[in-house]
Amino acid sequence: MATNSKLGKHPELKVIEGAKIRKTKPYSDIDLNNWRAYDHIETDSLWLFDSRAKGKGHKFEYHGNYIPQIAEQLFTRYTKPDDVVLDLFLGSGTSAIEAKNMGRRAVGVEIKPELTDYVKTKFTKEELKNIELINGDSSSVEVRKDIEKSLKKFGQQKAQFAVLHPPYADIIKFSELDNDLSNCNSVDLFLDKFKDVAQNSYDYLEKDRYAALIIGDKYTKGELIPLSFMCMQKMNEVGFKTKSIIVKNIEGNETGKGKANNLWRYRALAGGFYIFKHEYVMIFQKK
Ligand SMILES: C[S@@+](CC[C@H](N)C(=O)[O-])C[C@H]1O[C@@H](n2cnc3c(N)ncnc32)[C@H](O)[C@@H]1O
Repeated sequence: MATNSKLGKHPELKVIEGAKIRKTKPYSDIDLNNWRAYDHIETDSLWLFDSRAKGKGHKFEYHGNYIPQIAEQLFTRYTKPDDVVLDLFLGSGTSAIEAKNMGRRAVGVEIKPELTDYVKTKFTKEELKNIELINGDSSSVEVRKDIEKSLKKFGQQKAQFAVLHPPYADIIKFSELDNDLSNCNSVDLFLDKFKDVAQNSYDYLEKDRYAALIIGDKYTKGELIPLSFMCMQKMNEVGFKTKSIIVKNIEGNETGKGKANNLWRYRALAGGFYIFKHEYVMIFQKK
């Protein structure tokens, strides 16, 4: 790939094989001179997916895992091949699997040791050269050394994209572990710990790069707790600028159908509230 000296003032413009001019941003491989070719890439703030994408290593086997289409959209918009994606709540490894599928690398942190071990089995020895799995507490100071070590293995000091898909406070209890964010006994404590994770993600993200927070709200004793916006505020407090708030349907995450749905419908009608059918994908930039 040669850079045309006439385009010196515009480093995002590159000439490939002396003919086709590609126009890309430093954080994405999308060719802006060929932008009509990206029909499948979302640019609207409402994401409606019919169902969860299956195959290519992805399974709906872990309650609370996000649909692979989210990773595909985000990695296409905000990463280039070989970039390192840092996922602070790795869970069943959706980000790492999609990073591998898309030719990116990944560092994932997960608090449950059995889960980190299991995710490891999803990759071959060769693939694990590009995937680093850390068993640890993402809100801790101790995890920073592990993240540094993993990035160093990739010859990097910082990651190029960060994913934060925390427990939605106590909605799903993920483990009995004390530092598991789903075990915080108050929303305030959850937010304090989330802020520590946000800080770690900020510190290990390259400047000008992007981060995504995937989160939903919850009800407690008949009151809506806007966890999403509260967490967004924590992201801002550690220095991230909010770029977009995307509303995404939760089709594909649901397991309860039929009778359970009817019961919720009755409760909603009787309780004066609406059943959550959406969650958020919030986009931030480290400026
Ligand atoms: C919503 S799930 C993430 C699912 C993941 N995106 C996927 O697709 O499989 C949240 C995960 O965070 C983990 N977790 C909770 N507290 C944590 C902490 N302090 N550090 C690291 N991981 C934590 C939970 O065990 C759970 O697997």
